[in-house]
Amino acid sequence: MKLLKSPLIIVSITALLLAACGTPKELSIIPYPQFEKTSSKTVKLPSIITFTANLPKNDMDDLLAYLPSYPLPLKLKNNESNDTPFVSIKVAPDSSISEEGYNLTINKKGINIEAKSATGAFYALQTLAQLARNGKELPVTTIKDEPRFPYRGLHLDVSRHFFNKEYVMKQLDLIATYKINRLHWHLTDGAGWRLEIPGYPRLTEFAAWRKAANLQDWGKYDHHFCEKDEEGAYGGYYTEADVREVVEYARLRHITVIPEIEMPGHSSEVLAAYPQLSCTGEPYTSGEVCIGNEDTFKFFEDVLDEVIRIFPSHYIHIGGDEASRRHWKACPKCQQRMKDEGLKNESELQSYMISRIEKYINSKGRDIIGWDEILDGGLAPNATVMSWRGTEGGIAAARMGHYAIMTPESHCYLDHYQDDPETQPLAFGACVPIGQTYSYNPAPDTLGTEVCKYILGVQGNVWAEYIPTYEHGEYMIYPRIIALSEVGWTPLKNKHPESFKRRINNEIRHIKTKGYNPFTLSELVQTSQTVDYAKKRITLSLTSEKHPIDIRYTTDGSEPTSSSKLYKKPFIVKDSILLTARLFDKTTPLGKSLHLRTDYHKGIGKKITYAPQGGYYQHKEVYKGGGDTGLLDGLRGGKSYMDGRWQGFCPNDLDATIDLGKITAIHRVVANFMQIRTPQVFLPAKVEVWVSTDGKDFTLLGTDNCSEEEAKKDVIFRDFGWIGAPVQARYVRFHAIQGRKQFLFTDEIVIQ
Ligand code: ACM
Ligand code: ZN
Repeated sequence: MKLLKSPLIIVSITALLLAACGTPKELSIIPYPQFEKTSSKTVKLPSIITFTANLPKNDMDDLLAYLPSYPLPLKLKNNESNDTPFVSIKVAPDSSISEEGYNLTINKKGINIEAKSATGAFYALQTLAQLARNGKELPVTTIKDEPRFPYRGLHLDVSRHFFNKEYVMKQLDLIATYKINRLHWHLTDGAGWRLEIPGYPRLTEFAAWRKAANLQDWGKYDHHFCEKDEEGAYGGYYTEADVREVVEYARLRHITVIPEIEMPGHSSEVLAAYPQLSCTGEPYTSGEVCIGNEDTFKFFEDVLDEVIRIFPSHYIHIGGDEASRRHWKACPKCQQRMKDEGLKNESELQSYMISRIEKYINSKGRDIIGWDEILDGGLAPNATVMSWRGTEGGIAAARMGHYAIMTPESHCYLDHYQDDPETQPLAFGACVPIGQTYSYNPAPDTLGTEVCKYILGVQGNVWAEYIPTYEHGEYMIYPRIIALSEVGWTPLKNKHPESFKRRINNEIRHIKTKGYNPFTLSELVQTSQTVDYAKKRITLSLTSEKHPIDIRYTTDGSEPTSSSKLYKKPFIVKDSILLTARLFDKTTPLGKSLHLRTDYHKGIGKKITYAPQGGYYQHKEVYKGGGDTGLLDGLRGGKSYMDGRWQGFCPNDLDATIDLGKITAIHRVVANFMQIRTPQVFLPAKVEVWVSTDGKDFTLLGTDNCSEEEAKKDVIFRDFGWIGAPVQARYVRFHAIQGRKQFLFTDEIVIQ
């Protein structure tokens, strides 16, 4: 967050915390519809709901096949009966309603559904089912609805841990109710190949099995596979029949299953089974296939033939992410290929492979999607880009007239922590709380309509490295995918964080009764801050992901109880406040207390100069943490190094000098750091605080070392710095020394 010209900057730790402006009386629907006009009247729900539909025979058969999974007792009206059906579904292909859109009216005469397609009618029924949750009555309402984006996806990695077809279908059943229409099935990766391929039995007899159920324990076996029938073998794969069953189950729920076959990286399992396709000819030497070897193309073409035969999806995802260039550089066959094809570097070699595979897939009438790395050595002519490292790749693709699907890690990675990592089971990387997911806008107006029209939609990604069980999978998927359903469907004008908060809390309670295991939202008090630089004060607001809930607090360091003060309005902080706050469900305390010190400190708005080797990381926007003013803006980072507040340093130290403008008495200089081991974010080995009156001669005030015990922790947040008797100084040098040469993340150098 840059220091803007305006004296007032409003930032929230999660978008959930934003006050909703003008939230209308809401219907209990997720995703929220485009338009609704609802009266306070209701109509009684009959015990058996008869319906008629003018659907073509195949669509009618599909609907009847789906109805046993539908939560309401919908029954096709008997032709002989003269009774008026309660629900009338009319599909008119020439209507002005959009492809997936629908009109739904509920009044005392019954329910009318109009749509252009069976999909639109299906979505009207999903809305109806949500409105009928109380089983007794329905609101009198008129709804006109259509999605904001045509692509609304869930990605599921079944390589790192295997999820059987029943589990996949259970998730399809639920996500369809939120109008999610794509399952991106990540079928192959280094931890196991999951699709039976005729002619390549070793993929599923061997490269789908390992001796460690938990991926983190696989290191004990040097990440080697075992035979399917060996004792203790963990793994699995899908047969053609399994795939056909899942694809059909999805189709009845208007979901397309997009298969992903990873190449040229993330392929060590292929090379364990068929080592002749690696650059060395040996197994377990590389995750990348040899692009100089024609047999590599024969292999992937054979695999893709089978994939195309059993998956009707127009799109085939070919991976393309995170391929190392190391082995290709050293491989005579790869180097020969580069020479023969006039390729300047190994990135172009990867692009050669992707373009050649694209041509093959196009020749079969299908198109490819690839992760945004496929842009790096030149984009294949017809490729759609899935933007994950940020939004830049997707935007670049859209600018080039290629379709893009947005799934930036910062908002859409459902394998990342969703709450304070110190309270959560081990997960990957940054913390992506539901408010951050909900706040995502895949196609901001600022991009212009010419770019936005190529942005197909949004997807939530579930990587399974840290998801060893089925229950844990659901815990990571829900409720964030439900937030993304609203991101993908609902127009911006109808997206209200406060309304969503109420609806998602209801939804979580509901899906638990249906046998799912969602995360039930944070039990911690959340904060947001506003800094007024002109008046030199911070406005500190407290809120919660949960609803309804009470927040109680103290300002004397004591633990809040059920009779402590009830939080009602924000605090104005001119100097410092020590706040201890906790959530209470009536009189029962939840989670743990928030201990938060907020300071309008002496460094806010002052000039900071980074030493030549001490500057922040430049290669990812979100790691810049507000840039040159970010460490002195008064705004504190949350629990995620991707929240735009935390500044990253890699591989160098943080070494910066702050000029306070005049000689000032100081007694405390600290900055917060985090260690989150899974993405290689570490505490500093040591912090030194130096001061000077002239900017030339500096005196060391103190050092603060990372203890051996702290260094071993998976997750820890802690302030490093110096506290002591007041000293006079104009310049403060803050030097955080790297121990690991990986990522250091810090926020706000507080000077008092
Ligand atoms: C990815 O997360 N490697 C696409
Ligand atoms: Zn090679």
